[in-house]
Amino acid sequence: KKIAIFASGNGSNFQAIHDAVQAGTLRAEIKLLVCDKPGAFVTERAKKAGVPVLEFSPKLYTSKAEFETMIHEELQKKDVDYIVLAGYMRLIGSVLLDYYPERIINIHPSLLPAFPGMDAIGQAVDAGVKVTGVTIHFVNEGMDTGPIIAQKAIEILDEDTKEEVERKVHEIEHAFYPETLDRLFEEKRSMEGAAE
Ligand code: GRF
Repeated sequence: KKIAIFASGNGSNFQAIHDAVQAGTLRAEIKLLVCDKPGAFVTERAKKAGVPVLEFSPKLYTSKAEFETMIHEELQKKDVDYIVLAGYMRLIGSVLLDYYPERIINIHPSLLPAFPGMDAIGQAVDAGVKVTGVTIHFVNEGMDTGPIIAQKAIEILDEDTKEEVERKVHEIEHAFYPETLDRLFEEKRSMEGAAE
């Protein structure tokens, strides 16, 4: 499958996905990095990895529909099948949702439907829960509300600081996201094969 990764920040999940593609454990091709924060560290990672980068400033467009139409044109040129969100800090709008039904995937650092939205790890620590985790789901028009693909639980120990929980979450994410994407794409390939 040909994928575009959307990210806004550090890009450790971008890196993990790229490394898994290089290692052959994720059978996919990263055709493009889309970044809504020009200069974010993830763009340096992509350039180093030889992945083409589309950087844009949303504020230079009059609407979300306008910049999503621009993004869609770029995705079409590269024949992208799936959009993979990895720390993309912006809701996907109706233009991309309509072009990619059930083909936009997100990773969220909690066991949804608990703690949607910003700073899910901080929310879990503040709530004092003893178990949190990571959710991979299809994206719909809501905030972290689409159909769940896979989840993994993480224990929060009494002595864990927020930083320690963040470390555990990222460690899980970096293995779990590539592995889940590979399984999903494999399922899609076998369904497409069966349909022929
Ligand atoms: C991850 O924790 C992911 O779950 C959330 O945003 C964070 C992105 O981190 N959606 P990074 O930019 O991949 O390092």
